[in-house]
Amino acid sequence: AAGARQRRGAFIVFEGLDRSGKSTQVARLVQQLNERGVKAVAARFPDRTLTTGKMIDSYLSQKADLDDRAIHLLFSANRWERANQILEDLNRGTTVVCDRYAFSGIAFSAIKGLSWSWCRAPDIGLPAPDLVLFLRISPSAAQSRGGFGDERYEKTEVQQRVKGAFKRLGESVEEGKWVELEADRGVDEVGQEVLRRVEEVLQGAGMDKEVGKLWT
Ligand code: TMP
Ligand code: MG
Repeated sequence: AAGARQRRGAFIVFEGLDRSGKSTQVARLVQQLNERGVKAVAARFPDRTLTTGKMIDSYLSQKADLDDRAIHLLFSANRWERANQILEDLNRGTTVVCDRYAFSGIAFSAIKGLSWSWCRAPDIGLPAPDLVLFLRISPSAAQSRGGFGDERYEKTEVQQRVKGAFKRLGESVEEGKWVELEADRGVDEVGQEVLRRVEEVLQGAGMDKEVGKLWT
């Protein structure tokens, strides 16, 4: 029909604590979608290959110290550096599966005492996810999965507080767009539930609409 547009891809975001299995599920989902003939690509934040990503990497690996606000804005700028690419992929019909997004941005900064609204502001208007899959795991179960590395934030006490911040974030996201999945299970078990949720989104009416703008 006149004016009919091709259905766009879905923007799927995984969130959760460090070691909750996000990267594994992102790779698995992209592969399964491709096998089913659905075009899909992976993305991740922080994207350490970008200009801002290099600075973020030295901060996380504790080679550099930065003011809490400066690092917060760098994480946001890192998303803005990729935002147009994500939008183009979605509009070309490609599904984008992303490992962390602005929710991590708020959670990890808010626990340092920065206000919620200040943390949220720089990400306003970014491409909005169609679905956030929050992989729920206790900080102790996460730690027992091969342990944390030496990066900043990879400490049980920090993860505990971040978990609380994520809980509050989930409550603020539009109904049905934030789904919590029990992650303390086998990869395949979690993966099956992930695929089912994503297929629902791909078949839904949302793919005929424009990509939303975060928090607007
Ligand atoms: P990664 O382990 O997924 O590469 O993420 C590195 C760390 O960066 C992780 O502890 C979460 C944190 N982070 C933020 O503090 N702000 C952000 O905006 C993002 C995306 C991650
Ligand atoms: Mg990590």
